[in-house]
Amino acid sequence: MLLLKYFLNGSKKKEGILNNNSIVNILSPGRANIIGEHTDYNSGFSLPFAIDKYKFLTGVKNNSEFIEVYDHSIGECYRFSIKNISFDSNIKWANYIKGVVCEYIIHNHKIDGFSFIIDSNLSIGSGVSSSAAIEVGVAKLIEQLFNLNIKPRDIVEYCHSAENNFVGVKCGYLDQISVVFGKKNCAIFLDFKDLSHNYIPFNLKDYLVLIVDSKEKRNLSSTEYNKRREECNEALELFIKLSGNKEIKNLSEIDLGLLHKFKNIISKELYMRTRHVITENIRVLKTKEALSRGNIQEIGNLLNESHKSLRNDYEVSTEKLDYLVDELNKVNGVLGARLMGAGFGGSIISIVKHADLDKIKDIISEKYLRKYNEIPDFICCRTSDGAKKVIY
Ligand code: GLA
Repeated sequence: MLLLKYFLNGSKKKEGILNNNSIVNILSPGRANIIGEHTDYNSGFSLPFAIDKYKFLTGVKNNSEFIEVYDHSIGECYRFSIKNISFDSNIKWANYIKGVVCEYIIHNHKIDGFSFIIDSNLSIGSGVSSSAAIEVGVAKLIEQLFNLNIKPRDIVEYCHSAENNFVGVKCGYLDQISVVFGKKNCAIFLDFKDLSHNYIPFNLKDYLVLIVDSKEKRNLSSTEYNKRREECNEALELFIKLSGNKEIKNLSEIDLGLLHKFKNIISKELYMRTRHVITENIRVLKTKEALSRGNIQEIGNLLNESHKSLRNDYEVSTEKLDYLVDELNKVNGVLGARLMGAGFGGSIISIVKHADLDKIKDIISEKYLRKYNEIPDFICCRTSDGAKKVIY
């Protein structure tokens, strides 16, 4: 709050009195994905949840045409006019904010300048959707500051469009839906065919979700990620042509029978990409079942299978991610692990026994340090509600 008062000093002068009623606080979570990777843009299934690690945003209207932001977690400021918003190739993080502001303008919402601070305990580039947390956090902040009444579904659309059309990462809907619709004690079963979701009680009994951040930054991710999307489109067009069925709308409608029928006609690469999408959707449904039955061991096995598919068929893993998955699986108390998010670096998600947590962290830290000369970050995460206004 002190920081806010310091930063907002300018606005205070302009506005007269800055009272607590004019300040809006938003808590916007990251997300973990239990399973269902690279299925969102193929109209498949996923099973994510919002996590109890957040972007904290605190802001106030400033009666000007400028949006001013100070990101405390990186120690940088940024200012831009809402009358002239363009992509900034030097300050990448600002584009997520600009993209969302543009969406509000495109959709004719009446907004003016505002000043805000961002703080965070959510690491950047680790596969826990810090970018979606920022996008949705800014969208909610604008909604609250300017008394707009925006449907949660529209917030998802604005943020998804900001990332695809302004930032230029052709992501699916997984992250934005998870951050908007997260619910405490629940995983979210997502069907991307129609963007519908329903909540599944998430209770791992004596186990918990442990995310291990390899600290390998996902520099190549946007290029490689977009390439995977193109490959999926290419595969889809081929299946439509080969089967003569124009009704097929996405890769998730292909089954293993049809895939095998054309195995020798399509390229090995497209065959593998499609196989990942088909089998990953099956694993999501199995995980949902296992969760409902309370079969945690089975969920661990499915995580391991998912990793193999992401590594061998979708080819989005890295040496460090494979190492973490392999080494975790050697430790007693670990039920399974896999890379999480886009891949190409970032984090892995694992299911581990609560009682063995410290031992697991010690063993993995020591081995990783010996091999890669650094210690990974460990994030134990619980479920959380989606982004919302909070009163401190
Ligand atoms: C990133 C994207 C998501 C999704 C995952 C992979 O997190 O933002 O849309 O495609 O990768 O499952």
